[in-house]
Amino acid sequence: MLLYGHMDRKFLIAANWKMNPPPAGFDAANSPYRAESAIDVVVFPSSVDLSHCIDAQLIVGGQTGRPEPSGAFTGDISITQLKKMGCRYVLCGHSERRKNHGETDEYVAQQAIAALEVGLHPIVCVGETEEERKKEKQNDVVKKQMKDLPSGVTIAYEPVWAIGTGKTATPKDAQQMHAFIRSLLPKDERASVRILYGGSMNAANAEDLLKQEDIDGGLIGGAALKLEEFRGIVEVAESPLP
Ligand code: PGA
Repeated sequence: MLLYGHMDRKFLIAANWKMNPPPAGFDAANSPYRAESAIDVVVFPSSVDLSHCIDAQLIVGGQTGRPEPSGAFTGDISITQLKKMGCRYVLCGHSERRKNHGETDEYVAQQAIAALEVGLHPIVCVGETEEERKKEKQNDVVKKQMKDLPSGVTIAYEPVWAIGTGKTATPKDAQQMHAFIRSLLPKDERASVRILYGGSMNAANAEDLLKQEDIDGGLIGGAALKLEEFRGIVEVAESPLP
């Protein structure tokens, strides 16, 4: 039993900086973005900042990656290239990629498989839109998004209506979905796979979310761009659970 997580699942707090520059002080000695603690901290900078963050000794991942190792894909970056640079993680199927770049469930599964093949940890994002939740379709949507995923991925449940909106799923609703996601995993993986919550997580709501037994960390956008706010979240995750 770990103090800083549920069962044997250590909390993972991930900063998704999206298409923004790293916050000032991200590479300072006491940076909250550097994983020097009982929990895992990972940063997802935009591609142009990856090397700088790796040089600053952060644990880093790509925000997306193509499954093909190389080829005629102007403007893209491959999972193989991410691995060669020194990345350790890759986000697969963030809702902004699904929406703006047409990433399908099938493509997302291919990304996750390619990542596992080269030794990157895939964090696969799933989650329903507001419309889908209104129609109570959230379980069907997430089930479909997870259908073809390989074993060995981390999941991030990010309800689309909660991303960047300031609206957070209630801890109870989030827990319910996380438990449902866990029930979809193969039996032998249920106890070990980490399921992160994403969608307007901040220093003030982190404790109530992380207390839920199936929430194993956070994928954080807006609040991860504010260094002290992000430190607050990391500190919550580093405190023994009440
Ligand atoms: P948010 O973004 O924390 O700003 O809601 C989360 C994400 O998109 O990963």
